[in-house]
Amino acid sequence: MITKKPERVRVPQLLTMKQKAQKITMLTAYDATMASLLDRAGVDVLLVGDSLGTVILGYDTTLPVTLEAMIHHARAVTNGAQRALVVADLPFLTYQASIPEAVRNAGRLLQEGGAAAVKMEGGVPIADAAQRLVDVGIPVMGHIGLTPQSVHSLGGFRPVGRTRPEAEAVMEDARALQQAGAFAIVLESVPAHVAGAITRELKIPTIGIGAGPACDGQVLVSYDAFGLFDTFVPKFVKQYAQLGEAMTAAAREYVADVQAGRFPGPEHTRSDPPQAK
Ligand code: KIV
Repeated sequence: MITKKPERVRVPQLLTMKQKAQKITMLTAYDATMASLLDRAGVDVLLVGDSLGTVILGYDTTLPVTLEAMIHHARAVTNGAQRALVVADLPFLTYQASIPEAVRNAGRLLQEGGAAAVKMEGGVPIADAAQRLVDVGIPVMGHIGLTPQSVHSLGGFRPVGRTRPEAEAVMEDARALQQAGAFAIVLESVPAHVAGAITRELKIPTIGIGAGPACDGQVLVSYDAFGLFDTFVPKFVKQYAQLGEAMTAAAREYVADVQAGRFPGPEHTRSDPPQAK
């Protein structure tokens, strides 16, 4: 039986989905196995998020994540995904210092990481860099509202856009990114009415995380959604499984089996007769 390879989700398809009012689904992935599992479930976009700094590498923030780490994980995700569009984060300080650096670093995520697009945090201040990437053929997804790479200037991981000036600034950021040619924008921890207003005004899709139901799509950190990372679970997260507990229980059973001599049992032990030489 020949199984047909699923058709790859491509950047322009997200715009068509918005126009047809079809919700876009996005989850983070950091390795080939996870990418393949999520891909089979029909997730449209796999984000190689710099959240890997916290959920994979154990840092408190995303700031220590390097471009090399992002390329390494992007390669793994692109190896595992057949259908989903793979978007990789540009980590802190890889696009803020200069536009030529932004082009080179974003280019490496496509060329070496195999990603189809990059995501970058910030609105008005990074719009020129975003536009240059788009001009040279690198699709850009924006990310505004709570931008974790700016955790120190924000004063913590806190919602953004609750006051009128902040809400207006988020709207301006969204407009600047659309003007720069971004194909979609992540809205993180933004009040639902602000996210709704942005979603209605923009032609390009918005993808929300803690931004209410009006966005054109939703994204979650997969380790949060599946209960793998429990150091801190944001209020807006729905946990669809408790894989962390299941893994600990399985590991506990393995430890008990080995200690009691129950594993490996006869069914896991080869007893081939010796081969004549
Ligand atoms: O790095 C990440 O996982 C992200 C999501 C929270 C959108 O940027």
